[in-house]
Amino acid sequence: MRLKRKDLLDIEDLSRDEIELIMSTAKSFREVSDRDIKKVPTLRGKTIINMFYEPSTRTRTSFEIAAKRMSADAINISVSTSSTVKGETLKDTAKNLEAMNPDCIVIRHASSGGPHMLARYLKCPVINAGDGTHEHPSQALLDLFTVNDAKGRIEGLKVVIAGDIAHSRVARSNIHGFSTMGAEVRVVGPPTMIPVGIERLGCSVVDSLEEAIVGADVVMMLRVQFERLHRPLFPSIREYSLVFGLDTEKLKKAPPDVAILHPGPVNRGVEISPEVADGPYSLILDQVKNGVAVRMALFYLLVGGAKE
Ligand code: CP
Repeated sequence: MRLKRKDLLDIEDLSRDEIELIMSTAKSFREVSDRDIKKVPTLRGKTIINMFYEPSTRTRTSFEIAAKRMSADAINISVSTSSTVKGETLKDTAKNLEAMNPDCIVIRHASSGGPHMLARYLKCPVINAGDGTHEHPSQALLDLFTVNDAKGRIEGLKVVIAGDIAHSRVARSNIHGFSTMGAEVRVVGPPTMIPVGIERLGCSVVDSLEEAIVGADVVMMLRVQFERLHRPLFPSIREYSLVFGLDTEKLKKAPPDVAILHPGPVNRGVEISPEVADGPYSLILDQVKNGVAVRMALFYLLVGGAKE
């Protein structure tokens, strides 16, 4: 089996069957990271280029580790040291990369649609590693994988996504992903951070965090994206934390087996308290670990999977 698509640009586009295929493939790759010799020859001779136009710790590192664990040659382009700073356009960059015949390009771009544009110019697969406020598909896939692993299913789960929804590509991808897989998705956050019409993506909107987490199987806290706030959207960090921050007191409203997720990086003491982030319900580091397996699966299914 392989994905019947050239690129991975959105979760919105993916069918339930495709998400299940990616998750089952990731499951088969997960044990590679627990071996003494963490390498399989699947992508030997393939070249994967990681282009990050925005900062990243988890996504960039795990795409690179995934490529290397599959024996691909992984090249990292940091935009601050690339010819983009000399004014080269994304189209020219794409044409020049194409001339070097890569087998896959992973791109994070500050503009929504940047990876889609690159995909139109390149013959090789393009993987969106986060574009503007649009989508972060590999993050949502690792979140789905982590929840499925912890709960044994996704269908029928009650999933809360809380915080800075307006700036969150992770929220958009997860609303699409969890609703496609049959979960009930609720979003909650300051009214100024809830985009008008978000319900059309497949979720409901709840006003209070305490109300939202009653009966929740999964609570995903989102980072307040201070770098994208061009005007104040809440009175103060203290007030945000009091009303929309998840702490041990608010967590008492959730069922005892609730799973807490956060895509990272975490603003400790803002959207989540250190006790909850590091506590027994937290799957935050499982998300990071599973990210490598999910990204190995994406390379396998887009670059090196067996032909149908
Ligand atoms: N979750 C996530 O995208 O983290 P990074 O920005 O560190 O890649």
